[in-house]
Amino acid sequence: MTASDRPADRRPGRTPSIVACPDGPILVRGDVTITDDTGQPIPRRRSTVALCRCGASAIKPYCDGTHKAIGFTAP
Ligand code: FES
Repeated sequence: MTASDRPADRRPGRTPSIVACPDGPILVRGDVTITDDTGQPIPRRRSTVALCRCGASAIKPYCDGTHKAIGFTAP
């Protein structure tokens, strides 16, 4: 991937951010590599991704919106 192929938020120099949404996922923005439990990078197509923190998503590690259906609550 060349620099021009990267989404704008994943270009070097952008400050990554991680934000926990109330009663929802963790939003990850910027040039951050997400890995599985063996350290292998998990493919990422968007510059901002939502990571599940309720444990009920069918597409872990990403959020699929199930947290709303199960009534997940967290600060
Ligand atoms: S936080 Fe959204 S499905 Fe788990």
